[in-house]
Amino acid sequence: MTAVRDPGAAPLLEIRGVSKRFGATRALSSIDLDVRAGEVHAVLGENGAGKSTLMKVLGGALKPDDGALRLDGAPFTPRDPRQARRAGVAVVHQERALCPHLTVAENVFLGDEPTRGPWLDARAMRTRSAALLTQLAGEARASRTDPSAKVASLPPGDQQLVEIARALAAPSPRVIVFDEPTSTLDAADVARLFEAIRALRARGLAVVYVSHFLEEVRAIADRFTVLRDGAKVAEGEVASSTIDGWVSAMAGRAIEALYPRSARAADPSREVVLEARALAGVRLPRDASFTLRRGEVLGIAGLVGAGRTELLRAIFGLDPIARGALRVLHVEGAARPHARLEAGVGMLSEDRAHEGVALARSIADNVGLSRLPWIVREGAQRAIGQRWIERLGIRAPSVDAPVSALSGGNQQKVALARLLHHDVDVLLLDEPTRGVDVASKATLYGVVDELATRGKAVLLVSSQVPELLGVCDRIAVMARGVLGPARPVSEWTEEAILAEATATATATAA
Ligand SMILES: Nc1ncnc2c1ncn2[C@@H]1O[C@H](COP(=O)(O)OP(=O)(O)OP(=O)(O)O)[C@@H](O)[C@H]1O
Ligand SMILES: [Mg+2]
Repeated sequence: MTAVRDPGAAPLLEIRGVSKRFGATRALSSIDLDVRAGEVHAVLGENGAGKSTLMKVLGGALKPDDGALRLDGAPFTPRDPRQARRAGVAVVHQERALCPHLTVAENVFLGDEPTRGPWLDARAMRTRSAALLTQLAGEARASRTDPSAKVASLPPGDQQLVEIARALAAPSPRVIVFDEPTSTLDAADVARLFEAIRALRARGLAVVYVSHFLEEVRAIADRFTVLRDGAKVAEGEVASSTIDGWVSAMAGRAIEALYPRSARAADPSREVVLEARALAGVRLPRDASFTLRRGEVLGIAGLVGAGRTELLRAIFGLDPIARGALRVLHVEGAARPHARLEAGVGMLSEDRAHEGVALARSIADNVGLSRLPWIVREGAQRAIGQRWIERLGIRAPSVDAPVSALSGGNQQKVALARLLHHDVDVLLLDEPTRGVDVASKATLYGVVDELATRGKAVLLVSSQVPELLGVCDRIAVMARGVLGPARPVSEWTEEAILAEATATATATAA
């Protein structure tokens, strides 16, 4: 798989023999990698392969145990992220690293604020961050990311744009690293990000790009490197390789069926477990009507910000209901989250770090949290945790490892395991495969399929249209807070879903 074009070009960034251990885990084993000026270099690999560890080394957030980096021919040994950034290497990390209590503009320039004489130039910060965000968010939605807004008040997708703007605002950038930049972005955001990346490349910068969205990688990257278990296993030119080839290199085997799917016929005689009529939240959603039966997977498509997350939050009792009717498993009207859980409704939040898992606690604690008497609890929890590690292929040194020590995709699997362990009847899943590698996605789709076959009901919010088409029985599209009719998956195409998601709202404003 090795094909090197233009071998004469000296690399802008050289990585030689870089190794990193965490206790018994070898996160990186003697990695060699060259990144050239004017290229987008993709780093691929399964969850836990070592991608983020390598990006943290590049960005000065982690020190390698061994090996050396060179930038522009000179040794590059950043003491911390600030020094790396000053030297020209800026990183958009997988886990958001913003200060939630500061404003958008303050975050974009944190550490290298523009000054006027002895003073911070607050106005320059605001205008320059507004310009960057308009470039990234588009004219129409630039108001979404007001430079004086507190970052904490923004939804995850907008926070991600702020994070990207922060990397683009680095003083004299040479290398920009993106670690899973698009998992909270919709198609229009991704298109604008790619325009920005192409402009960086044209200016002769090097871009390092980590993503599990392999179609996107294909569209943006020039060369690629595959890591497996901390070692480099393949590299080459994107143009002369295939996605299947990448996946085999990542997994060490071919993936057969991405969407395992049992034959399930729509059965109108089955119990309706969730019914919404003209449901509205305080701001979003504005109008949602649907029914969900046992044995069914209902998908909700739509753009980021359309109100899909808010719909799930209203159903689960995290947000108040302003109008309309709701019945969930014989319970009429609103209920608190703990009451929902008691009744048999569970939710996987899109904001894993804040609502999904307790990062400082072990896998066993997170998954097995139960009402067992404390004497038996610990042993039982570890056994339960172990079962889920095997079932979902969670890569972890042990069941006692804190979730914070797991890679991003593996943290997501722990959050899902915790929900699945509750064995609820109605599952509300908000972007369940975010940050999850291709092989693990196939495993998770298999789990969803099995749940439906066992008579559970699943409401699945996803920004990945192929995923919705592959997994759901019916799909409805939400646009500007209004949910369209749910139709069988056979009546939808990718284009039809995108068209409905981006259609101008026809419903009368509430
Ligand atoms: N702070 C840490 N302490 C202990 N182990 C860690 C720590 N950070 C990472 N690891 C381990 O190092 C390995 C590589 O993790 P890394 O985050 O680099 O994976 P990744 O390729 O980015 O995966 P993902 O696709 O899920 O983001 C994993 O086994 C992980 O558990
Ligand atoms: Mg990672």
